[in-house]
Amino acid sequence: MAITKLGVVFSTLIALPVALAGSVKTCSDPPLSCSSSTSSNTCCLNTPGGQLVQTQFWDSNPSTGMSLILSCPSDSWTIHGLWPDHCDGTYDSSCDSKRAYKNITQILQAAGKGDLLSYMDTHWVDINGDNEQFWEHEWAKHGTCISTLDPNCYTSYTPTQEVPDFFQKTIDLFTTLDSYTALKNAGIVPSTSATYTSAKIQSALETAFGHPVTIRCQSKALNEIWYSFYVQGSVQTGNFVPTAPVGTTSNCPSSGVKYPPK
Ligand SMILES: *[C@@H]1O[C@H](CO)[C@@H](O)[C@H](O)[C@H]1NC(C)=O
Repeated sequence: MAITKLGVVFSTLIALPVALAGSVKTCSDPPLSCSSSTSSNTCCLNTPGGQLVQTQFWDSNPSTGMSLILSCPSDSWTIHGLWPDHCDGTYDSSCDSKRAYKNITQILQAAGKGDLLSYMDTHWVDINGDNEQFWEHEWAKHGTCISTLDPNCYTSYTPTQEVPDFFQKTIDLFTTLDSYTALKNAGIVPSTSATYTSAKIQSALETAFGHPVTIRCQSKALNEIWYSFYVQGSVQTGNFVPTAPVGTTSNCPSSGVKYPPK
């Protein structure tokens, strides 16, 4: 009897934050972001940040990569973030200091996102080992600038409820963008001696994604890939449409690009 009672109380407590959270307002026939059609409804149209960019890291730098070697699989790229760039490639940052939360881990736990959290702990890792701080930075700098994640885009908004939506969408996108396999299918694999041309890397990624992507290098070593999307509707419920990047261009040398093992 006591155990049953306890069980009921316990599950009520767990379910409470989720049950109280409001829902995302629905959008009927929303326009594609960055298209010519205009809409004043910034909950159904991502604006001005209409180019959503899923950015990924390949951290092979030995001096800073120790924690990554321990936590992240050596055959997977990791997440940098999800950025709402303007349609011309410029971007806003840190759009709402009141929502620069310092408790991303607790927010996700309270929302029942334990599985998401453990996935993030292996695939959204900070180069210095402080994942929470990295997530806080990405959320505050980029997430708060996503117009469709604004509190007024929820009916009966509960503070912080847009945070799980941001991290879940980022992971959902990331799991469709397997950079390691895309490169491997073209014979581009991590190596201490081989180098590759930018054209070959670009072509491998374009074959997988269907559109050109942005590649970024540090000391001639491939270390970032950026995938661009327009969104029809909100980030939470809308349709992500792959597209070519606008804005920042690739900075890798045309040949001699390294892709070191990590
Ligand atoms: C996280 O922090 C915010 C703002 O300080 C607070 O409103 C919220 O209750 C906290 N959430 C959890 C789950 O601790």
